[in-house]
Amino acid sequence: MDVLGHYDHGDTIASHETAPRFERQGTVALVGAGPGDPDLLTVKAQRLIDAADVVLYDELVSDAILALLPAAAERIPVGKLKGRHRRTQDEINQALVDHARRGRRVVRLKGGDPSLFARAGEELDFLRRHGYEPAIVPGITAALGCAAAIGMPLTDRRSSSSVTIVTGQAREGEPAIDWRRHAGQRRTLVVYMGRDNAAAIVDGLVAGGQDARTPVAVIANGTREDQRVATGTLAELPALAQRHDERAPALIVIGDVVRLSTAWAPAEPAWTAAW
Ligand SMILES: C[S@@+](CC[C@H](N)C(=O)[O-])C[C@H]1O[C@@H](n2cnc3c(N)ncnc32)[C@H](O)[C@@H]1O
Repeated sequence: MDVLGHYDHGDTIASHETAPRFERQGTVALVGAGPGDPDLLTVKAQRLIDAADVVLYDELVSDAILALLPAAAERIPVGKLKGRHRRTQDEINQALVDHARRGRRVVRLKGGDPSLFARAGEELDFLRRHGYEPAIVPGITAALGCAAAIGMPLTDRRSSSSVTIVTGQAREGEPAIDWRRHAGQRRTLVVYMGRDNAAAIVDGLVAGGQDARTPVAVIANGTREDQRVATGTLAELPALAQRHDERAPALIVIGDVVRLSTAWAPAEPAWTAAW
């Protein structure tokens, strides 16, 4: 079995955890770090992190999680900061393969869940083309972490029977998102990376028939010690979105479930809130 040709799912995953069977050629794992609270790291993520020789991490990975990295592991920040790319995706892909080829246990640590808005597909493509089948370790995505952190379910049989998770940013060169098609009653809309497009989101949803009084929450630094939450109506979203530090990751939740959150501060007492 040659170094680049090794391509066995089960064995590769096992080797990451139990070393040193394939030590010579290394292993790669795409690991979800969750939204920031270190207690939300999965046991498997912690186990792979503890065994890692090198960790390439996003800017979304919180300081509290970084503090858990083993002292012996090499740490490589590869965050793509807003407007300023520290590493291109191509460079990250290549670095994963290069480190693995040196026989290292490589952890690619991503904020939240690695399969949601985290470019895991491109990394998987590249790694597979180079003979690596990475383990994927799910993490708690921002939507779930933030909802729990403000005491809110994402569905509620009285007011919401589905959740839509959507990015607030269209890809460069692609048409703007048509928010009208995301309008709807009895559902929850969760928008990642939407803060800069808050006005367009409101305009589109209202044009699509969404009530401008629909409750919304903007959660910044969700689950972290510096978590901030602003709640109000859909019409107020652009102003709510401005309340937080623009560098903090922020999530927008739109729907009646927001009334159930501990952060909901309606003008009228909660028991009169209309479902
Ligand atoms: C590139 S996406 C990555 C999503 C991540 N893979 C996940 O599953 O949560 C980055 C966006 O996720 C959201 N996000 C991630 N962590 C967050 C947190 N702790 N609080 C609020 N929003 C967060 C924000 O909308 C942020 O702009």
